[in-house]
Amino acid sequence: MEDNEVIRMIKNRRAIRDYDTSKDVSDELIYKIIEAGGYAPSAENQQPWRVIVVRDKELQKFIGQKAVERTILLFGRATPREELERRLSYIKSKASLERTIDILISGARFEYIKGEPETDGAPVLLVLCIDQTHVGNSQPTLRGTGGVYGWSSPRHAVIAGSMMMQNMALAAAALGLGTCVSSVQLDHFDDIEEISDKLGVPLPHWKPILCLTVGYPKFERTLGPPRQPPEEIAFLNHWDKPFEVKE
Ligand SMILES: Cc1cc2nc3c(=O)[nH]c(=O)nc-3n(C[C@H](O)[C@H](O)[C@H](O)COP(=O)(O)O)c2cc1C
Repeated sequence: MEDNEVIRMIKNRRAIRDYDTSKDVSDELIYKIIEAGGYAPSAENQQPWRVIVVRDKELQKFIGQKAVERTILLFGRATPREELERRLSYIKSKASLERTIDILISGARFEYIKGEPETDGAPVLLVLCIDQTHVGNSQPTLRGTGGVYGWSSPRHAVIAGSMMMQNMALAAAALGLGTCVSSVQLDHFDDIEEISDKLGVPLPHWKPILCLTVGYPKFERTLGPPRQPPEEIAFLNHWDKPFEVKE
C-alpha cells in the first residue's frame, strides 16, 4: 500500500539540529504548533501540560549550556567509544562517523539549543512541563493503580506530555519547520531545579520534562537513523509469534 501524505510526513520528520538563523518563527506559527499539541489525548482529558515559549536569548543560552555540559558527561565520559560507534553504525562514511562522535563527546552537537547564529541555533525553544499531581477525580480510588482520587498518575502525565510533544513536532513539520526533542538538559535533578528556577516553574507540582527547538531547517534532511520494521517489533497474539502481513 502506498503511503499517504500524513504517513509520508511522519516518516520524513527528522531531528533538526542546524537552523537557518536568518528566519524567525512567528508567534502565529508557534500558537498553531501548541494548539495542535493540545489535541493530544490525555487520561480523563486532564491535559496535564504547560508549555513555556522561550525566546529570551540568555535563557536559551543557559538551557543550552546545561545540555552541552550533560552531553560531555554522558557521551564524553560515561559512554564507551565502542558503544557510540555501535549506535552510530548507520553512518557509513568514516569521516562523518568520526565527526559525529567528536561533536557528541565535546558537547558541540547540542550547541543548537542555545539559539546562537554562529552555531545555527534554533530561534525558539519550547519547554514542556507536566503536572506531577495529575490524578483523576471522576472515579473512586482503585487500589494499586496510582492516583490518590482516581486512576491517573504522574506516569500518565509523562505519557500524555510525550504525546503532546509528538503532536507539536509533527505540526511543526507540516508547517515546514524543523524541530528537535531534547531531554539531555532535564534528566538530572539539579538541572531541573536550576532550569525550573530560571523559568519560574513551580516545582514539584509542575516539572519540565522535555524541550523542543523550533526553526527553519538549514539543510533539507529526510534521511535519518534507520527504524526497525514491524516484522521485527510486532508480534501476533503472543510475544514470540512474529506479526506478518498475509498475502
Ligand atoms: C525522549 C527523547 C529525548 C531526546 N533527547 C534528545 C537530546 O537530548 N538531544 C538531542 O539532540 N536529541 C534528542 N532526542 C532526539 C533523538 O535523538 C532523535 O529523535 C532520534 O535519534 C531519531 O532521529 P530522528 O528524530 O531524526 O528520526 C530525543 C528524543 C526523544 C523522544
